[in-house]
Amino acid sequence: MSSFGSPNDKPVAIRQERRSDVAARESLLDAAFGPGRLARTSERLREGRKHARGLALVARRAGRLVGTVRLWPVVTGTGHTCLLLGPLAVAEDARCLGIGAALMRQALQRAQRLGHRAVILVGDAAYYDRFGFSAATTGALRMPGPYQRERLLARELVPDALTGARGLIAAAGPPRSRLSGLVDRIAGSPAPLGQPA
Ligand SMILES: CC(C)(COP(=O)(O)OP(=O)(O)OC[C@H]1O[C@@H](n2cnc3c(N)ncnc32)[C@H](O)[C@@H]1OP(=O)(O)O)[C@@H](O)C(=O)NCCC(=O)NCCS
Repeated sequence: MSSFGSPNDKPVAIRQERRSDVAARESLLDAAFGPGRLARTSERLREGRKHARGLALVARRAGRLVGTVRLWPVVTGTGHTCLLLGPLAVAEDARCLGIGAALMRQALQRAQRLGHRAVILVGDAAYYDRFGFSAATTGALRMPGPYQRERLLARELVPDALTGARGLIAAAGPPRSRLSGLVDRIAGSPAPLGQPA
């Protein structure tokens, strides 16, 4: 676990997600992305899968879950294994305190330490470029559904990890148990298919 926060502010602790965090995490994601969030194309790479081992983090502040990020094993059409990052969200009343940045830094450090080679995501370059993400290596990659090409970003954790990476990005993680799927479905909200990432 790691903590940060100025002396006048409530400290923020970042730690691995626990099963007891799931309901609060799902509520936070519903609030951040709205009820259609499970229809996003990125979700096609997450549904029914386990997140990458050790790579589901939460931020807690004043006894409340205020941030979440998870990473998921994926593979490109050319067999380049990497991680899909997302969703990243911070509670509205806790934004602009550096919690999103702290979650990102911890997630990337842990991913590197665990031997992962690269991370991709679908998001705003204006936010993610500060963490080293760009579209420079994603031009030949495709998501399994509608998405905005300029929002498909990547960061290599190992130099040249995505050199030559092309084709459809597919889920590569092990399937999750029925029980954990059920827990999320009860805590979260179902949504229609077909929205962009
Ligand atoms: C994006 C998000 C996670 C950032 O969390 P946070 O804890 O506020 O982030 P930080 O405190 O580290 O950084 C805040 C800075 O990022 C900027 N920022 C936030 N979202 C941004 C975006 N989409 N594009 C550009 N800059 C953005 C803020 O304006 C702020 O800028 P400042 O430092 O100049 O004031 C949070 O705004 C959020 O949950 N948004 C809704 C969900 C979402 O869009 N998630 C990302 C897509 S997966």
